[in-house]
Amino acid sequence: MNDREQGPRTSGPGAAFAGARLHIVTGKGGTGKTTAATALALSLASRGGRVLLVEVEGRQGVATLLGSPALPYEEREMISAPNGGSVHVLAADAEAALLEYLEMFYGMRRAGQALTRLGAVDFATTIAPGLRDVLLTGKATEAVRRRAGGRRRSTDTPADAPFHYGAVVMDAPPTGRIAQFLNVNSEVAGLARVGPIRNHADRVMEVIRSEQTRVHFVTLLEEMPAQETRDGIAEIRGMGLDVGAVVVNMVSPPLLDGAGLAAAAAGELDTAELAAGLKAARLDTARTGEHEALAADLAEEVRAHALRHLLEERVRGELEGLGRPLVELPRLEGGVDRDALSHLARGFAEQGAGQ
Ligand SMILES: Nc1ncnc2c1ncn2[C@@H]1O[C@H](COP(=O)(O)OP(=O)(O)OP(=O)(O)O)[C@@H](O)[C@H]1O
Ligand SMILES: [Mg+2]
Repeated sequence: MNDREQGPRTSGPGAAFAGARLHIVTGKGGTGKTTAATALALSLASRGGRVLLVEVEGRQGVATLLGSPALPYEEREMISAPNGGSVHVLAADAEAALLEYLEMFYGMRRAGQALTRLGAVDFATTIAPGLRDVLLTGKATEAVRRRAGGRRRSTDTPADAPFHYGAVVMDAPPTGRIAQFLNVNSEVAGLARVGPIRNHADRVMEVIRSEQTRVHFVTLLEEMPAQETRDGIAEIRGMGLDVGAVVVNMVSPPLLDGAGLAAAAAGELDTAELAAGLKAARLDTARTGEHEALAADLAEEVRAHALRHLLEERVRGELEGLGRPLVELPRLEGGVDRDALSHLARGFAEQGAGQ
């Protein structure tokens, strides 16, 4: 296996993040992509830089997470990070991106707006999903290339000016669609062989293929998301792109030690001892003689917990076998508020994103 297949810099916890400026966060639906992407953005910004978080699914997931009203199509500072850093959020949508594109390359914003009224923009992005994808990935890659002090086209500024954003994090489509979404070149190939859209697609692909870009996979310690992670990683590697971290989200610590778990899973918990323990704990709800029944119920629950944990251990082992660093984030009770986000961001920093 060569370096590219394994990902760049294969050793150490920081290997998944080192040198990257475009972080693409994918994973099975509902595993925590939006949460993890936001926490990663906050973690990267906590080094003191400016980070852009781009949402491309048009679902306003970041606004929901941050308890904000729906966000417009503009880069807006949403979170201030430690050390003077900041997270800006762009809720990208294909139609607005197309209008901006038409204005940028053809100076035709007004014409574009007329096209919108006619439904032509919607029509164009619906019949040509490749166009939709290249516009959205184009927004993110343009932000990666943008230099300080310049207008958005990087050609307007000196090549050695510092970057406007230290990093860009994308809350990306789920694993089932990520390869197609990122493969804008081949998607656009059937659409435009030459001309500005083709050139645009080539520039987008150049950033995505570079070592500056990493695709991170969010998963749970469950069979289905782990399977999607395996398949997704194989697809992304097959495209010649770099895989970053496997983010294992919503991890709960086991309630027993190794020996206790093994005994519980084998159904070998001593229920008499449990009953005595319950008695000693003076569980007053249990009347005399009920401690045994309660202990049997409890033993069953402990057994289920132990079996679940052993399954999780097996899935963790399989994920480790994928050859990329695992970043584990705890399951936080009571939902994900700003404090919880900061906690998850520290988790990222301690496991490599902070280097
Ligand atoms: N570490 C965590 N601890 C507790 N709850 C979490 C954690 N991570 C995510 N959640 C919760 O799980 C739910 C799904 O998370 P999120 O919206 O980030 O997933 P997603 O992968 O973006 O989903 P979708 O596929 O719908 O876009 C949310 O309610 C979120 O608050
Ligand atoms: Mg989401």
